[in-house]
Amino acid sequence: MKNRYYQKVKKYFDKKASAYDDVDTQLYWVLSDCFFKEILKREIPKYFKNKKKIKILDAGAGTGRWTLFFYELFRHKYHISGHLIDLSEKMLAVAKEKIVKKNLRDKFSLEVGNIEEMNRINDNEFDLSLSFYNVISFVENPPKALKEIYKKLKRRGLHISIVANKYHAYYFAILTNRLKEIKMIKKHSKVRFNDNMPYIHCFTPCELKKLYQQAGFRKVYIIGGPNFIYPGMEETFIHGNTKNIQNKLKDKDNFNKILEVEINAYRNNDIVGRGNVIMALAQK
Ligand SMILES: C[S@@+](CC[C@H](N)C(=O)[O-])C[C@H]1O[C@@H](n2cnc3c(N)ncnc32)[C@H](O)[C@@H]1O
Repeated sequence: MKNRYYQKVKKYFDKKASAYDDVDTQLYWVLSDCFFKEILKREIPKYFKNKKKIKILDAGAGTGRWTLFFYELFRHKYHISGHLIDLSEKMLAVAKEKIVKKNLRDKFSLEVGNIEEMNRINDNEFDLSLSFYNVISFVENPPKALKEIYKKLKRRGLHISIVANKYHAYYFAILTNRLKEIKMIKKHSKVRFNDNMPYIHCFTPCELKKLYQQAGFRKVYIIGGPNFIYPGMEETFIHGNTKNIQNKLKDKDNFNKILEVEINAYRNNDIVGRGNVIMALAQK
């Protein structure tokens, strides 16, 4: 790979790959995942009312977590198959191992590649594309990636992404006493949540909506979340847990109460800019 930026991104995720799924032991991210799974449960049937089959393009699939979550959530409702593509060979190797272990090799194919140029994939091929947890923030050219994903979707196909929220980026820079980051956010719409990661794109809800519309998407709905509980610096590292967040969430009742407040508010347009991250549901 010649591109210096992508060499850096690839190296960053190759290094994280073997421990990446330990995110399932970080209570903040467990809560965040429960929140987004519940949103999928509520939103997906609205978009795929008369469908029996869903073909997924997991664009920036990483270790395949969201393809497999999606499969578990909906395998009784739809016939699910798909293609996983990622820059990092090592992240995808973990995905492949999990797919093989679950006996799903006939349903899912994998490809090391750049989602800005998916030349090996046919246009108008997929019902749904997922780019969860900052994939569109990590790509070098987000408009190009969204146009490429748009091409690969069938008519009325849906792309769901989760990206970094610019407003939260300001909050986090202040929370973690890294005020020098404010200039980067303001001037270049770029953020890093700790000093070890590459700078990534961040968006306001309106900026994200516009980006999708410019890529051709007809209907774009933006959701923020989690809106009432945020990660600390510890959660930006694999295995890190901020004490006060962990203490709050390790009590099952507290966890469920917080999750309920989050879910009750997820369709409230008043709070969309409060999200730790922002999610787009964009239809072709
Ligand atoms: C934070 S991880 C998220 C992985 C997965 N979507 C998840 O939610 O678990 C971001 C992923 O995006 C991938 N990525 C970044 N830029 C990419 C690009 N241009 N093409 C393909 N994958 C990319 C990285 O290699 C990494 O695996």
